[in-house]
Amino acid sequence: MSAGELLPEIEAVLREGLASKGRVLWLTGAGISAESGVPTFRGEGGFWRVDSREYRPEELATWRCFSSMPDAVWGWYLYRRGICRAAEPNAAHRALASLEATLGDRFCLVTQNVDGLHLRAGNTLERTYQIHGNLDFMRPVDGPGGPVLIPAEVGTKWAKNSWIDSRTRSLLTMPDGRATRPHILWFDESYDDNNYRVESAAALATKCSLLVVVGTTGNTNLPLHIGRVAAQRGVPILVINPEENPFSQMVSTGGVFHLPGTAGQWVPAVAERLDELAGDGDSGDGDSGDADSG
Ligand code: OAD
Repeated sequence: MSAGELLPEIEAVLREGLASKGRVLWLTGAGISAESGVPTFRGEGGFWRVDSREYRPEELATWRCFSSMPDAVWGWYLYRRGICRAAEPNAAHRALASLEATLGDRFCLVTQNVDGLHLRAGNTLERTYQIHGNLDFMRPVDGPGGPVLIPAEVGTKWAKNSWIDSRTRSLLTMPDGRATRPHILWFDESYDDNNYRVESAAALATKCSLLVVVGTTGNTNLPLHIGRVAAQRGVPILVINPEENPFSQMVSTGGVFHLPGTAGQWVPAVAERLDELAGDGDSGDGDSGDADSG
């Protein structure tokens, strides 16, 4: 099988997924943005210097670190946001935006990525569950409110290892004067529904008739939970990844199909075929169960 060419068994899975009238659930991780040039979280150059000490990303992405040096941690996030804003959505992101336009409420997307590329490609906030947050947003450190967009005046270019200054700090303040934090789930925090719609995202696994998992190692709880629930329900699972991962090892009576290759090789092919099949009348739009938008 050459990458991008769908075998008859995959074609059958796509038809079955659409015929069953449930949601078509996509679950994405860092791999889908690799071809846009967004570096991985722990890749080279991820270190951040504060005075003479180098911090690892796993240390910086914590409430603990933010609470002791908020200006340095904000600087690190603005730097990463600048890298993501300089990147463009790739063919895989665009294919998912086009598929959502065709499938409507039958489409849903759970992403671990904080780069915002799915939204910039055209997927809607309503059907995109950003379970780890989004670098473009901030929210108050304390109390209710947010997330709100980081003001444009902050700019998108940020020098490495630089702290925010007083002007930027005042821009990163809520209108009522409260301090903000990046709208990102940190390593020493738990998933919560209010900020990350995680319960709604988890519930999608009980409503889907096809799960497509793209570019993730599956090392966080919620994505694995979604995979397990879908597998227990006998939902077919397609895994798009150059490597084996926990999803490709799952056992589902609906079948687990690993498409070994990149997102760019497989996502447009799968999404375009779903698009065509839905256009042929296999979509069943309007019968997707309760239209939970989270
Ligand atoms: P990882 O960086 O852990 O894994 C990236 C996955 O993408 C791997 O399985 C690669 O094989 C695959 N991959 C690489 N290039 C690809 C390509 N071109 N096309 C398709 N797949 C490709 O990223 P995530 O699984 O997203 O959490 O990481 C999950 C979470 O772990 C992150 O959201 C972050 C981190 O700790 C938090 O920050 C809370």
